Amino acid sequence: MLDDRRPTRPLAPDFADHALNGDPSLALRDGFLTATWPDGLSGRFHALWLRENEVISGIIDPVTREREIEIDRFDPGLSLVSADLTDGPAVEIVFSDGHTARIDPGWLRSMAEGRWHPAHDIPEQTPWDAAGMAEPPTFDGPAVLTDDGALREWLSAAWASGFARLRNLPTAPGTVQRVGERIGTVRSSNFGFLFTVETKPDPDSTAYTSVSLDGHTDLASRETQPGLQMLHCRENSATGGASTMADGFAVAEAIRTEDPDAFDALTTLPWVFTNRHRDSDYRFSGSIVETDSAGRVVEIRNTGFLRFYPDMADADIPRAYRAAQLFNAHCRSDRFLCRTPFTPGDLILFDNRRMLHGRDSFDPQSGVRRLEGCYLDRDEILSRLRVLAR
Ligand code: OGA
Ligand code: ZN
Repeated sequence: MLDDRRPTRPLAPDFADHALNGDPSLALRDGFLTATWPDGLSGRFHALWLRENEVISGIIDPVTREREIEIDRFDPGLSLVSADLTDGPAVEIVFSDGHTARIDPGWLRSMAEGRWHPAHDIPEQTPWDAAGMAEPPTFDGPAVLTDDGALREWLSAAWASGFARLRNLPTAPGTVQRVGERIGTVRSSNFGFLFTVETKPDPDSTAYTSVSLDGHTDLASRETQPGLQMLHCRENSATGGASTMADGFAVAEAIRTEDPDAFDALTTLPWVFTNRHRDSDYRFSGSIVETDSAGRVVEIRNTGFLRFYPDMADADIPRAYRAAQLFNAHCRSDRFLCRTPFTPGDLILFDNRRMLHGRDSFDPQSGVRRLEGCYLDRDEILSRLRVLAR
C-alpha cells in the first residue's frame, strides 16, 4: 500500500527518506496547521513557514534544496484556508493568497520528531576528569580509513569525550590528510595545510622545540580557533614527549562550583592573544572560558605561549591573574590530566576549543620525534555523523 502511494509523493526539501508513520489528521488553528499521527505525535506548523518550504512550486529548488524566494515576498498576514491529506500522499494546503501547496507528510513528521534540530542524534559532550579517563578512547586506524561504521564510532567517541585515538595507522607522510578527508574539509592555517611537529632550527612556534607544552588550545590568537586538531605520530624514538590531555569543560565546571569568583573572571575578562611571524600578525581579545546565552561552557581559549596582556580595567587584573593561574594549575594537575605516550601509527583527534592538549619535554639527542597534524572546523564531525546516519 505504502509503495503504491509513493510515486506522486511530493519531494521533501532535503536529501533524506521519511517514513510516513500512517496518515496524520489535520486541523487549523491560530495561523498554525496541527498534524497528529496515529501514534499520538503531533506537530504545529506556522502558515508562513509552510508557505516558504514547498518544493513543488519552486520556492525550494528541487536540485539544490535551497530556497529561491525571500521571506518578505509573502503576505505578512498570510493565513491557512484549508489543509487535506490527498493522494501521494500529500498534505494539500490552500493559503489566503490563493496558492495551493503540496507537502510530504513524512517530512512534516520528521519535523515533529525534532529530527532537524542541530543537536538531534549527536552524542552528549560528557565532561571527564582523570579518574574517569585512564586511556583515550581508542579505535583501529585502518578500519576508520575504509569502513563507515568504524568512522562513525570513532567520531561519536571523539565528540562525546572531546578526543579519541586511532592506532596502527601507516606512518607515511600525508596519512593525517587521508584521515582528515574521511571527516570533512581540512582547514589550512599560517602553519600550512598540514604541519610537521618536530624540533626545527628556526622555530616559528614553541611547539617546534623540545620543551614541554602545558595544556593549551591551538591558535587562541585567531578569531575562530580551529575546532578540531589531529596529530599523527610518524616517528618516535626520543625519550619523553608523552601527550597530555585535559577536558577544559570539566575544569571550567569544577571552577564554577568550587570558586565562583574565578569562574566569573574566566568568563567575563578578556585577554589579548597574539602570534606574530615574519609575514603574519594575528591578534584576538577573548575570555579564557566562553559561555553561551544559557550559561553553558562552549569554548576554551587558552594558548599560554600566545597570551599577551590582560585587556581589562586595572582593578580586574589581580582576579584575572588568579583565575588564569587556577585554570592552568587544574589543567596540569593529576585530577584532570590524561597522559599517554605516542607510538608511531597513533593519531589523536580532539576538539581544540574544548581540550587542553600538551606534551612532556623530550630529549632531542635521544632520537627523532615527528608528528604531522592538521586542523578542521568543529562541525565537520557533526556533518559527517549526520550524513553517515542518513
Ligand atoms: C602543537 C602541539 C603537541 C605535541 O604542535 O601545537 O601541541 O605532542 N604539539 O608535540
Ligand atoms: Zn598545540
